[in-house]
Amino acid sequence: MIDHSFGPYSETREHLDPWLPKLLGVLNIPSGRILELGCGRGQSAETILPFVGSDSEFILSDSDLESCIDCGWKFRDQDNVYVDHADALSELACHKDDSVSQVWYLNGIHLDEQRAQVINTSYKKLKPGGLLIANSSFTTESEPASEIRFYRRWIGHAMRKLKARDLHLHDLVKQHNTMQRLSKRDYDELFKEVGFNLLDLEPFSLSMEDEGSQLKTTINGLFRIAQYTAWIQGSMPVYDEVEPIPPEILIGRLDTVTLVQQEALLEVYPELIGARVTPRNNAIWVARKPIRDEVIRTEPFKK
Ligand SMILES: C[S@@+](CC[C@H](N)C(=O)[O-])C[C@H]1O[C@@H](n2cnc3c(N)ncnc32)[C@H](O)[C@@H]1O
Repeated sequence: MIDHSFGPYSETREHLDPWLPKLLGVLNIPSGRILELGCGRGQSAETILPFVGSDSEFILSDSDLESCIDCGWKFRDQDNVYVDHADALSELACHKDDSVSQVWYLNGIHLDEQRAQVINTSYKKLKPGGLLIANSSFTTESEPASEIRFYRRWIGHAMRKLKARDLHLHDLVKQHNTMQRLSKRDYDELFKEVGFNLLDLEPFSLSMEDEGSQLKTTINGLFRIAQYTAWIQGSMPVYDEVEPIPPEILIGRLDTVTLVQQEALLEVYPELIGARVTPRNNAIWVARKPIRDEVIRTEPFKK
């Protein structure tokens, strides 16, 4: 049975290393209530946790129940970690305005159709001076120009394999829309229009133009990402949002697409990428709610 959750890919940590440890090395995490929305299998939370004070509450949430169960188990010995089964907007709704010290939303904002409301509500819930930190390696600019040929060849090859194996599914995949991506600038506007100030990450070599912010993707990482439902829906979608399909048909379709993508990858990656890794551009936002005069500020970055 193929695991179509985020679990197998997330274990590679290719979506977090090296940029997240680097960001945590320069960022201040204040005391108080820290939220992580879309926490997934807890890999990002594990990285953040050592920087969260033991007197702070670290609240993890995800819309996926299995992810929450995994996190509950993973952090069972941590007195200050709590796990909620909730989508990002519902989690934020549980907190009073101006009460949250920091909000994290890593590798998930592009999947969230309510992202504009999530950004807006985060702004309301954060204390003045509080940060909303998010990233995405699924913007319109995520594949560097040098790697576009590889991605096209990989998915094109997988589609040809699918056509030979299951013509009906091939035709369905072709007629469904792939995930619509926003540009980095579109996201910037979502933050800015609700009042956030976007902090400059260039001094830390973490702006989107810097190599330090990129993901370093290996054949192993891509082999596993080909299993993940959200990746499949973004690259070779097996269903549309309107027509519900029985679970056994859905699983069959996901399995088939995973297999053709993995087979195609094993042929295309060695030929086009070889021994090097393939970088992905990663947009990182450190968005700060402005401070009022009377509020004592926590500096966002370490001195
Ligand atoms: C790619 S994973 C990232 C997990 C984790 N933050 C990490 O970086 O390791 C994206 C996660 O976002 C979750 N997700 C998708 N839409 C969501 C929503 N509307 N609210 C909360 N979580 C959501 C998914 O269930 C998934 O666990």
